[in-house]
Amino acid sequence: MRTEISRRAFLATTTATLGAVASSPGSLPAPSQVSVPPERLLAPHRLLGAPRRQYGDRSPYEKSVRYFKPSSTPGTGASRTPLQDLHGIITPSSLHFERHHAGVPQIDPSHHELLIHGLVERPLIFTMKDILRLPPVSHVHFLECAGNTASDQLGQPGVDPQMSHGLLSCSEWTGVSLRTLLEDVGVKPKARWLVAEGVDASRLSRSLPLEKALDDVIVAYGQNGEALRPEQGYPLRLVVPGWEGNVNIKWLGRIDLVDQPYMTRDEAAFYTDLMPNGLARMFTFVMEAKSVITRPAGGQHLDGAGFYEIEGMAWSGRGRITRVEISTDDGRSWRDAELNSLVLPKAVTRFRLPWRWDGSEVSLQSRCTDETGYTQPTREELVSVRGLNGTDHYNGIKAWYVHRDGKVTHV
Ligand code: CO
Repeated sequence: MRTEISRRAFLATTTATLGAVASSPGSLPAPSQVSVPPERLLAPHRLLGAPRRQYGDRSPYEKSVRYFKPSSTPGTGASRTPLQDLHGIITPSSLHFERHHAGVPQIDPSHHELLIHGLVERPLIFTMKDILRLPPVSHVHFLECAGNTASDQLGQPGVDPQMSHGLLSCSEWTGVSLRTLLEDVGVKPKARWLVAEGVDASRLSRSLPLEKALDDVIVAYGQNGEALRPEQGYPLRLVVPGWEGNVNIKWLGRIDLVDQPYMTRDEAAFYTDLMPNGLARMFTFVMEAKSVITRPAGGQHLDGAGFYEIEGMAWSGRGRITRVEISTDDGRSWRDAELNSLVLPKAVTRFRLPWRWDGSEVSLQSRCTDETGYTQPTREELVSVRGLNGTDHYNGIKAWYVHRDGKVTHV
């Protein structure tokens, strides 16, 4: 015996279900009772035993990739994460953004060492074996390039979330707490800062205040359940939660305890913020609260008026996101979005808000607040204080525009 499910009955159920969702956001539609025809239980594309891949790959139907900025200098470059295609808070390691100043070294972990010296009681060299014997910690944290969203600051906003906000990713990082290593070597009272150095071709190095080093910094060897990717610092990197990407030294080989910052190339000539008065802010480490709507967003298309879910990401280098508000009327009124999934400190937080589009021209904006009470500013507010000389640490409110034909754009 077999029961037909008529298309009409199915559509009637679907319509009723959508109405229920829109009127009570957050509640699940009641499942409708159907009889399943036996042929529905037979897999149409059954391939026994295939595929068997020793290291898995995604479905060939999934096409989302990083965007690589064309670069004329070999060994330097940047890639952007396709934020609009992600689900949840974790960025797949294969889609993590990159920023390289001197290429990607291929390092054999059996030869890699970390030297900790300077103002310490016992200078020590740690092999990877030594580090793996120490107690591990795992934390989910975002990493963001200081220059992320610079194009929005300059008034040339990126066409989609990847191009506007894609120098941002979020991973579960595993390693040993830097505090543990510093306790092993015994930091002398005169030490106030440390200089962390990578073993890449440029020996990229940055000064970090000791206070942060003893707080939540991780010397990481793991990312999302496996070893770091080479582009993310294999076999060892610093993860400095909430602070600009550049200080999260990759291919970490040396930590020098010192009494003052060393004014390295990447904290003197670069990664400083030139203010309107001609003076530059230095050691601007924290990435302030920021958010972006990833659906509907630039580059996407709405299939006519009706019910849509507004979704996006928010994060703050100062702790947890406590609130995200959404405006669909050019910032005149704001509604609280729901924070879904995990809400972790210094990590990407997901938000959502059910929305009914009436088919008119509208802008979609999000603004977030973190646990310190700080709220993401407008572009005008930021530019009035900081001017347009510097391009780092821009975190203004982002707007997408929905046009009558359903097209969503950045202008
Ligand atoms: Co900075």
